[in-house]
Amino acid sequence: MKNFKIDLIPGDGIGVDVIREGRRLLDQIAGISGISFEYNELPWSCEYYLKHGKMMPDDGLSILSDCDAILLGAVGFPGVPDHISLRQLLLPIRVQFDEYVNIRPVKMLPGLSSPLKNECMDFVCIRENSEGEYCGKGEWRNEGKADETVMQQSIFTRKGTERILRYALEYAKKTGRDNVISATKSNALNYSMVFWDKIFEEVRKDYPQITSSKMHVDALAGYFIMHPERLQVVVASNLFGDILTDLGSAMLGSIGISPSGNINPEGKYPSMFEPIHGSAPDIAGQGIANPMGTFWAISLMLEHLGCHAEAALVLEAMKRVLQEGKHLTRDIGGNATTTEMTDAIIDALRI
Ligand code: NAI
Ligand code: MG
Repeated sequence: MKNFKIDLIPGDGIGVDVIREGRRLLDQIAGISGISFEYNELPWSCEYYLKHGKMMPDDGLSILSDCDAILLGAVGFPGVPDHISLRQLLLPIRVQFDEYVNIRPVKMLPGLSSPLKNECMDFVCIRENSEGEYCGKGEWRNEGKADETVMQQSIFTRKGTERILRYALEYAKKTGRDNVISATKSNALNYSMVFWDKIFEEVRKDYPQITSSKMHVDALAGYFIMHPERLQVVVASNLFGDILTDLGSAMLGSIGISPSGNINPEGKYPSMFEPIHGSAPDIAGQGIANPMGTFWAISLMLEHLGCHAEAALVLEAMKRVLQEGKHLTRDIGGNATTTEMTDAIIDALRI
């Protein structure tokens, strides 16, 4: 019997609901397979911040360091500035655990309904997850004065840029995809993106079998809408990847569907899995959040842990419930609650 230690961080808002349901799903998987899960549920959240003045304890990262994987709901809630909640919890985990790959599939599942006429989409976004625009460096000068000025830095290192571009090309090669598009904006960002493009040129030479090209991120956003069927692998910096993947999920019909894997490819630290959505304060506490983003993240997590059959089982159960169409949450056109949709997916797992 394989046993995995999973650290759960439900976080805030609907994060709490979707992780509660995610845990039920994991229990069900354990019940029907040869694997088991041991959970360590951590209360780190905005509520924790209001009590303790920090989003996680000082030894938070060392608490997480011995688990097999982290499953996170969402962090951020009105009452605590978003830059504090994000920068004191989510970003330190991604950066300190060197989870430099953020992998986000955009795949139309049967039963979903896209707002686009063209529903043919099955591609993967690979987002740089450890530096770039989210490095957190900058300066705030002359606050409140007439010449008040802020500077927000981006940091792109050769190591950080090369490894993510190589990962994307390598991923394409391994998964039998023959096209990689790199998101740039080197017409306006005359240091960071010129450098990004230069490294892309160097790395792509090692992959002559893959058609690779760059596209300005604004044009690429349009391309997502106009020609989603042509996309296979998209590689992007931290900020661009963040924006493009909410767009990708909306193309599937809801922000609540898509998953995200924050991967430390070397396996030196635990990787973290989460839905791409946030804490959705507008629907928090109503029990109507779509749990599918979390379930899909669980599928990615199982894949990462080497449980390929179980990972596939979760996706199959989701597809079955989507196609049946009777237990859908409101964001994708139904009126089921989060728990009702989970019940249906758990039932579908048993079939
Ligand atoms: P959001 O993703 O929370 O919500 C955007 C819209 O999508 C809302 O209308 C919401 O109701 C809807 N939505 C999101 N997830 C849904 C689901 N599972 N089912 C049904 N509808 C869903 O983004 P927003 O409003 O920009 O951020 C809210 C808070 O979440 C902020 O504090 C933000 O900083 C935080 N956030 C945290 C993230 C994380 O923990 N990884 C990611 C994005 C935002
Ligand atoms: Mg985002």
